[in-house]
Amino acid sequence: MTKKVFVSRPIVPDAIDKLKSFFQVEVWNETGPPPKSVLIEKSVECDAFMIEANDPIDFDVINAAKNLKIVSTRAVGYDNIDLSSATEKGILIGNTPGILHESCADFAMGLILTLGRRISYSHHNVLKGNWKVFDQTPYLGTDVHGKTLGLLGVGMIGSAVAKRASGFNMKIIYHSRSRKIDLENQLGLIWKSSLDEMLQESDYVSIHVPLNDDTKKIIGKRELDLMKSDSFLINTSRGGTIDQLALTNALKTHQILGAALDVTDPEPIAHDDPLVSMENVIITPHISSASAATLRNMGIMAADNIIHFFTEGKMLACLNPELLS
Ligand code: GLV
Repeated sequence: MTKKVFVSRPIVPDAIDKLKSFFQVEVWNETGPPPKSVLIEKSVECDAFMIEANDPIDFDVINAAKNLKIVSTRAVGYDNIDLSSATEKGILIGNTPGILHESCADFAMGLILTLGRRISYSHHNVLKGNWKVFDQTPYLGTDVHGKTLGLLGVGMIGSAVAKRASGFNMKIIYHSRSRKIDLENQLGLIWKSSLDEMLQESDYVSIHVPLNDDTKKIIGKRELDLMKSDSFLINTSRGGTIDQLALTNALKTHQILGAALDVTDPEPIAHDDPLVSMENVIITPHISSASAATLRNMGIMAADNIIHFFTEGKMLACLNPELLS
């Protein structure tokens, strides 16, 4: 019997074609995610899912599964998946590490530059017809070179940001559970065992930790209060790592100077959310990995996880490998 694969978005046609040469494939042909009722229905009918980072594969979806053997996410983050329930039910979870870090780091560096040097703000003023005379003074920004970048997390993405920031002549400090001696030797990074100390010393703080119980709202009012009043916060990880209300207040009261958020909580952010209309805030729609090439390569890897599992009993990246043995 041909296996049935449900693909929750039509966005990587090459990956869908590849799956179609092995399996019976059903694609959710909408721009948004399938409703949970559809995920539950497909969980009963299908052998595999290829999903996106915001499809909720929660207890209900997993509990409904009959033949579902593998859920392959076109993402690195898996906070949308109930991994322990999946493992208990014997459902493999695949993801796509090792592909997107360079694209994400390009984007994070872009946000640092855009925020500090007010590139987006000044562009919008030109669009509004406000460039009437040569006057730079409304657009004075903060340098990037010579400033201190504080990295919260230096996994593959955080370290790729460090490499870029070092080329921009930034001083780089980082906080993570373990020291990265290689990065310290290679790029002169300085480890801060205390998050508080890192926040107090940074001009730009960039978040690169996965969202889990330890990192939920890791940046809240207390942490924002520690930051310099002329500093910036950049988030390309998950919206849930920041207490968004506390951030809104910190920006309103000039506790910090600005923020760039590629991720929010919830996503999409409501258009009337106060953060959306703040001039010192840049919000992008969760696209840090989304160069055309990286989106495609992530899709191919997510498809390959399913293909390799059903043809060879192996996966390229598996979050519960104990089920494979
Ligand atoms: C995207 O957000 C990812 O986790 O890959």
